[in-house]
Amino acid sequence: MQSAQQQIVIIGTGGTIAGAAGSATDNVGYKAGQLSVATLVGAVPALQSEALEAEQLAQLDSKDMDEVTWARLARRVQQHLDREEVRGIVITHGTDTLEETAYLLQRVLAPRKPVVLTAAMRPATALQADGPQNLLDAVAVAKTPGARGVVAVMAGQVLHGLEIRKTHTYRLDAFEPGPDTGLLGVVEEGVVRAFRDWPTGEALGAAVLPEDAARWPWVEVLASHGGARGQALEAWRQAGLQGLVLACTGNGTVHQALGAAVEALRQSGVPVWRTTRCAQGRIVGAADEKAAQLTPWAARIELSLQLLQQH
Ligand code: SIN
Repeated sequence: MQSAQQQIVIIGTGGTIAGAAGSATDNVGYKAGQLSVATLVGAVPALQSEALEAEQLAQLDSKDMDEVTWARLARRVQQHLDREEVRGIVITHGTDTLEETAYLLQRVLAPRKPVVLTAAMRPATALQADGPQNLLDAVAVAKTPGARGVVAVMAGQVLHGLEIRKTHTYRLDAFEPGPDTGLLGVVEEGVVRAFRDWPTGEALGAAVLPEDAARWPWVEVLASHGGARGQALEAWRQAGLQGLVLACTGNGTVHQALGAAVEALRQSGVPVWRTTRCAQGRIVGAADEKAAQLTPWAARIELSLQLLQQH
């Protein structure tokens, strides 16, 4: 007997996976977000016999991802997850901010069904486009018994939604898991082999995300580096910045030239979180353990969520 839960919903948001270039040999000079998600699904013969629905939510180059799209996406994903017949969701997305969307969706929805983000490093017009295989693998993950939570699937790898980070500008396996963790699993010929537990957690609820961009807090990321100056930070403070994530050097240090401006922010009640700009490791001995192990971009989402819950 077939399970009642067999429908997979594929939500398109744009990205290189839906990108088009003028020539099949051009893997970089393309425009992201050109092909509809229905076209992407139609290009994969093995998907034609699946119980799928394709829905276009946005058509963005994900560098331009915005809060309103995040709020709409979270609500729409939740609506589909609430449908009895839906087994899982696949979201096609650009690689550039995929890790931010994955983090946000896991914290807000913490779904009991799988929500699988997938993407591509080469446009759909490329000689060897990676999107079709990634989409097929993502559907395989969404159908896997026991799968749950927000994950990403790229280049045959399954990555935890709270940990994933883009670490390469060009390679097809452009993503890595967090430091000191590892892949959640792999997809081999349509079969998912999981090495770790699927993401779990407490859902904040999609309603925490305002649909009006003006109601989102203004949270910035600032990197500390040689030759740093405090003026930009001071200008942000005067303009009404509501939260700051520092991408610190090494184990959480900040250039002395930023010290006064950071202190002025703290004095005016603006939360300042420290993360490290190092690709590996965490800030050892940090007062705020949570931020210390996040990338600056994930910490920016986390701080935004904290501020949203206070208002
Ligand atoms: C994007 O993030 O939308 C463009 C780049 C990509 O998907 O690789």
